[in-house]
Amino acid sequence: MTSGSTGSAPVNTSADLVVVANRLPVDLETLPDGSDHWKRSPGGLVTALEPTLRAREGAWVGWPGVPDVDVEPFAEDGLSLHPVRLSADEVVDYYEGFSNGTLWPLYHDVVAAPAFHRHWWRAYVRVNERFAEAVAEVAAPGGTVWVQDYQLQLVPGKLRELRPDLKIGFFLHIPFPPVELFRQLPWRTRIMEGLLGADLVGFHTEGGVRNFHWLATELAGGSADHDDPEIVHVGDRQVRLGAFPISIDSSTLDSLARTDTVVKRAAEIREELGDPRRIVLGVDRLDYTKGIDVRLRAYHELLEEERIDVDDAVMIQLATPSRERVDHYRQMRDDIELSVGRINGEFARVGHPAVHYLHQSLPREELVAFYLAADVMLVTPLRDGMNLVAKEYVACRPDERGVLVLSEFAGAAIELTSALLVNPHDTDGVKEALYAALTMNAEEAGKRMRTLRRQVLDHDVDRWARSFLEALGVDVPDEQGRS
Ligand code: ADP
Ligand code: F6P
Repeated sequence: MTSGSTGSAPVNTSADLVVVANRLPVDLETLPDGSDHWKRSPGGLVTALEPTLRAREGAWVGWPGVPDVDVEPFAEDGLSLHPVRLSADEVVDYYEGFSNGTLWPLYHDVVAAPAFHRHWWRAYVRVNERFAEAVAEVAAPGGTVWVQDYQLQLVPGKLRELRPDLKIGFFLHIPFPPVELFRQLPWRTRIMEGLLGADLVGFHTEGGVRNFHWLATELAGGSADHDDPEIVHVGDRQVRLGAFPISIDSSTLDSLARTDTVVKRAAEIREELGDPRRIVLGVDRLDYTKGIDVRLRAYHELLEEERIDVDDAVMIQLATPSRERVDHYRQMRDDIELSVGRINGEFARVGHPAVHYLHQSLPREELVAFYLAADVMLVTPLRDGMNLVAKEYVACRPDERGVLVLSEFAGAAIELTSALLVNPHDTDGVKEALYAALTMNAEEAGKRMRTLRRQVLDHDVDRWARSFLEALGVDVPDEQGRS
């Protein structure tokens, strides 16, 4: 199958700034009538990087989201997109297998068991080499390449071999695991060597930096710098490490949440739900790390204990379909849908479900209206690199209302300390925090929300991208093109 270019703007084939990620910011979708169209790709990486790169007219190298498709490079609204082809077998072995069956669970503290298969690893090596070759073709001489996430950890090393003239940065969007977990990987040294091909390796937290530093020096032949704990020497090169907590395009969301359309839609949502006193919201990719089961359990128990009832409160869970062919994901979807069915079976009345569950991806404006309508936002991952949903909720509350309940094990908890922080393994703790959120007085909620908003509006994604690129030694023009 072949799909052609969608835009007529010229494609940048020698870009000063290239982002390379497993996925392009848009996925190719074939409609029932056989025609192709592009839709926004799922996940936080795209949310964060797309505005950043678009403002800087960069190039993006990535997979178009479907197997066995050749797509010509194309330009779209200031961005040049360079698709990389994956075969159906590579999607199974590299993407669903090594990336999401080995690395994802291992890096998320083994909340599901990782599987180690040599043929998955071989596909990972092959595909990483292909991405590196594609980038080497697109990057301008002396240009900057920013490699994203756990799917592409071998790209920095391979790219350095192919194009030693480039500045190479790597950013990990998920947690970097404790050393005892990383050491389980049979290919641990190869992965460290791949990452150490970068000039700068970035993580969300200082914990990630420390774990990586230890492994680089103990496992991969790097030596520590006596003066700077964020530098590792590798041969005659130095690799800088750093914590760069990612964020969102806060001011755009804040403005969107103030528009008449969104404010009106938020009121309509409340009305459609039967004007409950409290709306509780969860928004996630349907992933077992997100703790959707944790919040359903807490909600179920509050209903059982008659501390809330369906006339009083309603829960909405929006869940974007994700990695649907991976076993752990199938199992989790079944479990969650069973729990929702049970809760509704026991507590709903006709026309008044206790939990509304949508296995759908919503348009941006609609999502913002849900954030604005929600009195309590539940973000309860067992482990999460950052969790942009928590920040989006805060950015979407210019009315300074709403209470955020946030897992301690999301990277966002380091910055969002005025949320109600919970341990997702402690069902009683989550339940009490949810109840406290539901009954919190407006004064305390407002005080907490104001503090959260200062943090999220001051530390936006542009600031994140700038701090990373500046640490990489790139002269960063602002969005108006000024240096
Ligand atoms: P991850 O990167 O693991 O998916 P994040 O919380 O960092 O997690 O980012 C998720 C992104 O996906 C956010 O930008 C969020 O708005 C978006 N998202 C999640 N669920 C939905 C949904 N049901 N509809 C639309 N967007 C969603
Ligand atoms: O960092 C989280 C992440 O894995 C991103 O790399 C990815 O874009 C997003 O979640 C969505 O996952 P997937 O590309 O597997 O659908």
